[in-house]
Amino acid sequence: MPDKIILGIESSCDETGVGIVRLGADGSLELLADEVSSSLEQHVRFGGVVPEVASRAHLEAMAPAMGRALETAGIGLPDVHSIAVTAGPGLAGALLVGVSAAKAYAAALDKPLYGVNHLAGHVAVDTLQHGPLPERCLALLVSGGHTQLLLVEGIASSITELGSTIDDAAGEAYDKVARVLDLPYPGGPPIDRLSAQGDPAAIAFPRGLTGQRDAKFDFSFSGLKTAVARWVEQRERAGEPVPVADVAASFQEAVVDVLTAKAVRAAREYEVDTLVISGGVAANSRLSALAAERCADAGITLRVPRPRLCTDNGAMIAALGAHLVAAGAKPSPLDLSANPALPV
Ligand code: KG4
Ligand code: ZN
Repeated sequence: MPDKIILGIESSCDETGVGIVRLGADGSLELLADEVSSSLEQHVRFGGVVPEVASRAHLEAMAPAMGRALETAGIGLPDVHSIAVTAGPGLAGALLVGVSAAKAYAAALDKPLYGVNHLAGHVAVDTLQHGPLPERCLALLVSGGHTQLLLVEGIASSITELGSTIDDAAGEAYDKVARVLDLPYPGGPPIDRLSAQGDPAAIAFPRGLTGQRDAKFDFSFSGLKTAVARWVEQRERAGEPVPVADVAASFQEAVVDVLTAKAVRAAREYEVDTLVISGGVAANSRLSALAAERCADAGITLRVPRPRLCTDNGAMIAALGAHLVAAGAKPSPLDLSANPALPV
């Protein structure tokens, strides 16, 4: 089998991504290009992603991102073997831009098209940095849009959701708490930085869904967000200063405590010895530190892709496409449509 060039297109939220991966004859993957154009700046004043603004930005950014990716990889479109695209989950209008572009390229070039799952892409991307995944592993996906615990028994074939958030995503909680603390959007990075100066044990914020009778691997962060807002409100009403760094650190500790505890518990229960943490929140310094500590204690190998690969990008879709091609998976039909609620 000669080398194959796989193109990946991502447009599920506010990042327009085009990634290019070389699939070697031995099954190895090499990242050749990873062009990402974000419309984040256009959403900042709204404090969250505005779907219509995101769709329009994808339309404007897609063709230039494709041009830059091909140039960086030093290839032309005829060199492409297959085209992978995020078919869901995500914002409907945003997904449609990527899916339409991928279908157009696939039809014009007469190349196989693979509509893939965004969440599986977040796991697959790790293979670009750390090599093949073991036969079975666990993945914790934490971003502004998702919080999922997945059992991966074949990246191209079998992914089972063990649990997910029943309300806010972990990143969403960071963004909402940042707003309460008058910190900029997105809230993860400033809370992460401020927490380093605060005491994580200063305030005992609630750990959602950790009771004996609660769904074992589901998450809940909206009660935590409300608890933080109430705590700050009471302080302000009493005319007392708000110890912002302590609040940030205590909130963060509650989030990462639950995430890591449930991930390690799931790894033990399903007898897997590798945990992958991916998604924008994986960039959190306390999350990776506590996960490293708890994984080491439990004899679990922790894999966290570099931040650039953790956030939404086209490389993760190209990587997943490459795994599908390597596995001999059947391509998608050319009338593929976007599915905003696509399950893993
Ligand atoms: O994966 P991502 O770039 O986009 C999607 O939501 O799909 O994730 C963005 C989320 C935001 O909610 C942001 O606040 C959070 O990731 N985030 C962080 C950190 N950096 C980004 N959360 C905690 N700590 C960070 N260092
Ligand atoms: Zn994502």
